[in-house]
Amino acid sequence: RASTATATVTAAAQELEIARACPYSPNAQHIAFQQQGRPVKVTLATLGPGAPVWAVSNHADIRTMLNDARFSADRQQQGFPFQVDGQPGNFRRTMISMDGAEHREVRRSVTGEFTLKRMKALQPRIQQIVDDCIDTMLAGPKPADLVSALALPVPSLVICEQLGVPYEGHDFFQSRSHMLLLRGASAEERLRALDELIDFLGDLITEKEAEPTDDLLGRQIVKLREAGTYRHQDLARMAFLLLVAGHETTANMISLGTMALLDRPADADALRADPSKLPVAVEELLRYFTIAEFIPTRVATEDVELGGSLIKAGDVLVALCNVANRDPSVFPDGDTLDLQRGARHQLAFGFGAHQCLGQNLARMELEIVYATLLRRIPTLRSAIPTRELPFKHDADIYGIHAFPVTW
Ligand code: HEM
Repeated sequence: RASTATATVTAAAQELEIARACPYSPNAQHIAFQQQGRPVKVTLATLGPGAPVWAVSNHADIRTMLNDARFSADRQQQGFPFQVDGQPGNFRRTMISMDGAEHREVRRSVTGEFTLKRMKALQPRIQQIVDDCIDTMLAGPKPADLVSALALPVPSLVICEQLGVPYEGHDFFQSRSHMLLLRGASAEERLRALDELIDFLGDLITEKEAEPTDDLLGRQIVKLREAGTYRHQDLARMAFLLLVAGHETTANMISLGTMALLDRPADADALRADPSKLPVAVEELLRYFTIAEFIPTRVATEDVELGGSLIKAGDVLVALCNVANRDPSVFPDGDTLDLQRGARHQLAFGFGAHQCLGQNLARMELEIVYATLLRRIPTLRSAIPTRELPFKHDADIYGIHAFPVTW
């Protein structure tokens, strides 16, 4: 990393670079920003010329940014970068963009669906889904594509069952989610994908309103009606957020984590011999890949000093979570993937009020998938050198487009 960290940081604001040089290293520009030790002013083409954007790269500064009410998640604020729930001015509101009491209320209405206890109850069903996908893969031709055979269907099937969304619609909603997170897509294309997803879920919710089913969406209808706060469109947006957040993210971690284990046979052997080490390994893999590295963004609602830089009211902040997850003051030797590290305080799920609602679910899915692959297909290997895999340099969530494997 020392050789790549020499990217010069000039006084004039630079365009924030997005692509990673390789899946195992953050962008060199971000490393250079972190070495400056304070938030750095950058530009972001998606916001238009001259918009003041701060790249925040220190672990401590990001925790402040994500945990201080003076930094708003409200994407209606002018100048907000494009996010999964829409464009400034063309806004579709979900909890990820709400602040304060409004956010707490909406989030609280579903937290009961994502508790550790609920996830434990889901464990046997997730195991069965993983086993079914692996059975199908093993019965099919070699090489198989790990992404379409396992990484995408597992979290997709799980979140669909949880929400009560028929999985038969998966081609439709997976393609729309993909479009939504694709940087190359135009704002219009993203927005169309977003609206199509919300409409699709809205129709489904209309059916459930007539006859509420025993799933997350059905239970929400009953509960919120009783409380007198039920609104059809709010639930459609909530369903949209959970569906998209619930499968694209975990799918990418399944692919990248599997790649890392295949690249490190000794680590894979150690986990195979003692699967109780998996939770610690999963935390480290989450830290190391930090796939949602640009997702936490905020707007300052007043002038704030952050880590030695003066952020003005209205300025946008982008958390560079990938490089922050290697901040040497928190993760010594952070460029090393150390599956026994115990990466507490890693920021892959964000921090503060908006910290990932589905993190318990994601961790459980990852543990089950890695454990089952290691146990059931000990000879699994990449069909091409892993450095040649088609990595997602073109998407808001990092990952692998396709992953040919054989055994
Ligand atoms: C929020 C990452 C899986 C649902 C977040 C945030 C991050 C993140 C970084 C914070 C965004 C911010 O601060 O603006 C991830 C990663 C995942 C994952 C890396 C998988 C490895 C899931 C799953 C669900 C989910 C499986 C399932 C439902 C959500 C929701 C929020 C969120 C609803 C918004 C929470 C709020 O605004 O209060 N996620 N996520 N995520 N995530 Fe995840």
